[in-house]
Amino acid sequence: MNAATVEVHLTDEDLTTALREDVRSGLTSEPKSLPPKYFYDARGSELFERITELAEYYPTRTERALLERVVGEIAGIAQAEVLVELGAGSAAKTRLLLEALISGGPLKTYVPQDVSVTALNAAAEQVAVEFPGLAVHGVVSDFTATLDNLPRGGRRMIAFLGGTIGNLVPSERADFLAGIHEVLEPGEQLLLGAGLVIDPAVLVPAYDDASGVTAEFNRNVLHVLNLRLNANFEPEKFRHVALWDAEREWIEMRLEATEAMRVTVADLDLTVDFAAGEQLRTEISAKFRRAGLESELAAAGFATERMWTDPDERFVLVLAERR
Ligand code: SAH
Ligand code: AVI
Repeated sequence: MNAATVEVHLTDEDLTTALREDVRSGLTSEPKSLPPKYFYDARGSELFERITELAEYYPTRTERALLERVVGEIAGIAQAEVLVELGAGSAAKTRLLLEALISGGPLKTYVPQDVSVTALNAAAEQVAVEFPGLAVHGVVSDFTATLDNLPRGGRRMIAFLGGTIGNLVPSERADFLAGIHEVLEPGEQLLLGAGLVIDPAVLVPAYDDASGVTAEFNRNVLHVLNLRLNANFEPEKFRHVALWDAEREWIEMRLEATEAMRVTVADLDLTVDFAAGEQLRTEISAKFRRAGLESELAAAGFATERMWTDPDERFVLVLAERR
């Protein structure tokens, strides 16, 4: 039996230490904000999976259909021996890539990486069962902190799917792409999935669905603060807000206090006041234009080899070579 191995480079304690710093600075800033990586405890990862099945949430099914169409071409160009996937989550769409890289190339090893230990363990175990000849080595780490823990050796392709690149602010994005450039060797590949700028009438409902799953996902960060830092947020007193910022071309998710309140974060000895209507920023989800992506990649030392989009031009897959 082919068992998966998982290396933990970010322990529960490390995550709490980072959370303490981020919460102290984010909740004492003006305006208040929190980084999106804290959505993804076991409940948050489950809620994200439910989002991917919503009628309004087009990115996952669009990227899946795109992958179905082009994985053969990707595999032919990449000839990867090792597939590293950042922010792999449940790795649902990755199966398509794995099949193509195995049947059309020399793939031997899959390295899913994620900050969510529960999602990663489940994905690594399941992939190992489904692909008996494949070595599966999961890595629990924070891709905004370091990529140094990723394995070296073998011809690699790094996949970063789902549009998660859009959850990084532009300066983080530049650092992140530079970090990928540093860990790859010349000639190795990056496969990037990104959402494109589209009509806000389609975009906004994807982040504000009628059944309220995204609202629950958004409020989950408050549950995480309650559980990990003994905070006393009342999540139901925060309204989910999703706005399209046309200038910066990103969706912004916020949580709006429905009344004035005082929240205590006991483990930080911190008291935070919210005015009625005050908003806390919890996530950005940037959308891209093809030329912009190509120039961000070029600035980080990548040459775009191919770009594929769906017929409605909502999503793009970019295959780029590390120079
Ligand atoms: N790639 C999957 C999942 C996308 S959801 C898909 O395309 O459907 C985003 C994933 O990135 C989640 O599994 C989340 O836990 C992970 N993630 C978010 N921020 C992260 C970080 N800083 N480091 C590592 N993983 C992160
Ligand atoms: C993981 N990431 C690409 C999702 C997105 O679309 O930005 C997270 C998400 N936020 C709300 N819905 C989904």
